[in-house]
Amino acid sequence: MTTRTTRTTTTASVRARGPGRVNLIGEHTDYNGGLALPFAIDRGVTVTAEPRDDDRVTAEARDVGEHDQFPLAAPGGDAPSTSGWRAFVRGTVAELTAAGHALVPTALTIEGDVPQGSGLSSSAALSTALSLALLGAAQQPEPDRVELAKLCSRVENDWVGAETGLLDQLASLLGAEGEALRIDFATLAVERVPLDLRGWQLVTVDSGATHEHAAGGYNERRSECEAAARELGVEHLSAATPAAAERLPDPLRRRARHVLTENGRVDATIAALRAGDLEEVGRLLTASHASLRDDYEASVPEVEATVDRLIQAGAAGARMMGGGFGGAVLALLPVGRPRPDAAVVVAPGPAARLL
Ligand code: GLA
Repeated sequence: MTTRTTRTTTTASVRARGPGRVNLIGEHTDYNGGLALPFAIDRGVTVTAEPRDDDRVTAEARDVGEHDQFPLAAPGGDAPSTSGWRAFVRGTVAELTAAGHALVPTALTIEGDVPQGSGLSSSAALSTALSLALLGAAQQPEPDRVELAKLCSRVENDWVGAETGLLDQLASLLGAEGEALRIDFATLAVERVPLDLRGWQLVTVDSGATHEHAAGGYNERRSECEAAARELGVEHLSAATPAAAERLPDPLRRRARHVLTENGRVDATIAALRAGDLEEVGRLLTASHASLRDDYEASVPEVEATVDRLIQAGAAGARMMGGGFGGAVLALLPVGRPRPDAAVVVAPGPAARLL
């Protein structure tokens, strides 16, 4: 690790933007070595970072009117509580430092327009914006983006206590306008897929049931999948055959079935997009939802009601999105049809960046 001994006093403040994400399809596959098709959206978090003259990092979360501060050299040290957004700030400082980036004392201001717990990954938006802002304020070069995604994921796993995978961070750091990303989580190979919706639009609607990965059923599903993979003697569930998965005891059998069929739906969606068959994309979204509801048991009544409402409003397909147990519903609606209340049109936007 390099130690910074001098610091330019002329460093101006920097601003970084981290986008949230929409996952078109491929849910609960990332931590199972499977496939997903997310894209970055134009909603996200903006972090302003200004070097300070003392030894501290200060942080203000504007949207909630809360503050935090700690010594740069001891992000976990004097923490009265490191839950919520504070855990992201302290964890990002700690993980960047542990990875050898010489940060400087900084005043951080955080503002966002992606609702928390909505399934649009306000958490990846926050950690990617924080990372780029802290590195920018310290005039440190940006690391490889896949490595940075892993670092942001460690913040969420080890500091926030949510055993989430890499989906959100990779989407936030690698997304681009007009494109979704086919990510193979067994190899981390990323393929860019043009998202041409030909007369259709994607919308998200908040179900009204918020979720928190650190507290919800997410971690439980993840350990069920690990147990299933252990039982089958494979490194991750996506390496299992459907026939072997069917021999597992319930509920592991259904968890594995979701993962294997969902991987298939990701490539089927890409094929349908390439063929311009958006009705088929809609059917695949609805099939994904049924699998998440029945086999993965990750839905809640508010989400079911929202899916039904969107189908009645003319959607070609609709499904719960993200970690589940609440959050947003994604639907494919014809352009020109009146949009249901509170529906937000989502489209692929640029990756996390310094502004
Ligand atoms: C959350 C997690 C991701 C992924 C999805 C489910 O968004 O952060 O890593 O597991 O749930 O697909």
